[in-house]
Amino acid sequence: MEKLNGKKKIRVSVFISGRGTNLKSLINFSKKKNSPIKIVLVITNNKKAKGIYYAKKNKIKSLFINYKNKNKAETKILIILKKYKINLICLAGFMKILSKQIISKYKCRILNIHPSLLPKYKGLNTHKRVLKNKEKFTGCTVHIVNLRLDSGKIILQKTVKVLRKDDESSLSRRVLKVENLIYPRAVKKFISSNL
Ligand code: GAR
Repeated sequence: MEKLNGKKKIRVSVFISGRGTNLKSLINFSKKKNSPIKIVLVITNNKKAKGIYYAKKNKIKSLFINYKNKNKAETKILIILKKYKINLICLAGFMKILSKQIISKYKCRILNIHPSLLPKYKGLNTHKRVLKNKEKFTGCTVHIVNLRLDSGKIILQKTVKVLRKDDESSLSRRVLKVENLIYPRAVKKFISSNL
């Protein structure tokens, strides 16, 4: 097993459902000298997720899990996580809500990135709601996943100014750039104080 300054690297699985820019940024972070993580597995509920490309390009194992039956899907995921000796799960645009089965097994070992300044705008369509409410600021948050949606302890948050000319796509693009920046930083911070 690879080691970091004598310490074992944290074995990470990233869960995605789509584009995968946050996955890409985590992979880049994992490749840095002295990175505390090794991404060993990418899990997706979407066969066509564009982000799988980044896993393939970097020779990281990727697995499609059929979510038609959530209970079965999660049972399978748990077996796989054990097989790959996963220490930390990073949700990166994974559009399924994990249930107790996984969350309690990986208590305080699952991180998520959300495109708002939590606790504001939990759930979906954050940018649309931010614009509708004429917010002056929005942002993104990396937090620990607990049993309540988008409500776990906040690890890192960064503010993004909402511009007068912003529409949903321009705002989501700018927030995403900041997401890509903070996710690795949050992982590093989390690991140094929790693992
Ligand atoms: C990101 O904006 C992430 O915050 C969001 O999905 C996008 C995934 O982008 N996640 C959620 O809304 C979770 N509730 P990516 O596939 O390019 O990383």
